[in-house]
Amino acid sequence: MSDPADPSLMTRLTGKTALVTGASRGIGRAIALRLAGDGATVAVHFGEREDAAKDTVAEIERHGGSAFAVRAKLGSDDAVGALFDGLAAGLGERPLDILVNNAAYGDLAALFQGSIEAVTARQIDEVFAVNVTAPLLIIQRALQLMPDGGRIVSVSSVSARMAAPFQLAYGMSKGAIEVMTRALAHELGARGITVNAVAPGATDSNINAALQDPDLRERLSELSALRRIGRPEEIADAVGFLASDDARWITANIVDASGGAFLGPIQ
Ligand SMILES: NC(=O)c1ccc[n+]([C@@H]2O[C@H](COP(=O)([O-])OP(=O)(O)OC[C@H]3O[C@@H](n4cnc5c(N)ncnc54)[C@H](OP(=O)(O)O)[C@@H]3O)[C@@H](O)[C@H]2O)c1
Repeated sequence: MSDPADPSLMTRLTGKTALVTGASRGIGRAIALRLAGDGATVAVHFGEREDAAKDTVAEIERHGGSAFAVRAKLGSDDAVGALFDGLAAGLGERPLDILVNNAAYGDLAALFQGSIEAVTARQIDEVFAVNVTAPLLIIQRALQLMPDGGRIVSVSSVSARMAAPFQLAYGMSKGAIEVMTRALAHELGARGITVNAVAPGATDSNINAALQDPDLRERLSELSALRRIGRPEEIADAVGFLASDDARWITANIVDASGGAFLGPIQ
C-alpha cells in the first residue's frame, strides 16, 4: 500500500504543465492549487477578477509551486485566441500536458430563472457560448500543444442527470459537455489522450453564494447521501486523480463528485 506521507506522491506531475480555466475562484482555484501541489506548472485562467487570479498564483508560489495568470473573457469572439496568446507567453516552448475546462457561465440571477416559461434565446446563447462552445474551441487549440498521453478533464454538474427545471439552459449545457467528453475520448484515444469529466453537486463557491442561507444549505445537504455540501478541494482531488498517471486507463468517464446527490428518497 502506498504511504500517503511519501513526498513522491506530492510531485507526481513534476515537469508537466496544466491550464485550468476559471481558476481565479471557487472550484477552479482549488484545482489549480491541487495540480500545482502535485508539481505541475499551472496557467491560472480568469475572466474579470485579476486580483483573485493573482491571489491564486501567489498562493501556489507561496507553497513552492509555479503558476502564471492568463486573462480571457470567454463568450466573446476573440477569447480563445487571447487565451492561447497568454498561454504561449507563459509556457514558452513547453507543451500543454493537462487541460481542465472548469469556467462556466456565472450570472446567477439568469441561471436561476431558466424555467421553460422564462428561458430566452439570448440566455441559451450566452450560457452555451461559455459552457459549451468555449471548452470545445479551447480543446481544439489545446490539442496542437498537447503531446500524446495528455489529459483533458471538464467540469460538468449533477444538473446534467437530475431535473432542475429552473436551471434548464445550464443543465442542458452540462449535458452537452458530457456528450463532448465521450465523443472526444473515443476520437483522441488513438493518441493516448484521456478525456473525462467530473460532476459536482452543490459545492461551496462563489457561484453558490446562495448556499450561505442556512435553510437552503440544510435542504441541499439532505439531498446527498453523505448529508452535506461539497468543498472545492473535494472536486479538485477527483480532477487531480484524473490528471495523474494513476488514471491512465480511465477515459470517457463522468465521475460524480457530489457525495451521492439525488440518489433517491432519504429515509
Ligand atoms: N459550485 C457548485 O455548486 C457547482 C456545482 C456543480 C458544478 N459546478 C461547476 O463547477 C465549475 C466551477 O464553478 P464554481 O462554483 O467554482 O464557480 P465560481 O466560483 O463562480 O468561479 C467561476 C470561475 O469561472 C470564471 N469565469 C466565469 N465566467 C467566465 C467567462 N465568461 N470567461 C472567463 N472566465 C469566466 C471566473 O472568473 P472571474 O473570477 O474572473 O470572474 C471564475 O474563475 C463550473 O463549471 C460550474 O458549472 C459548480
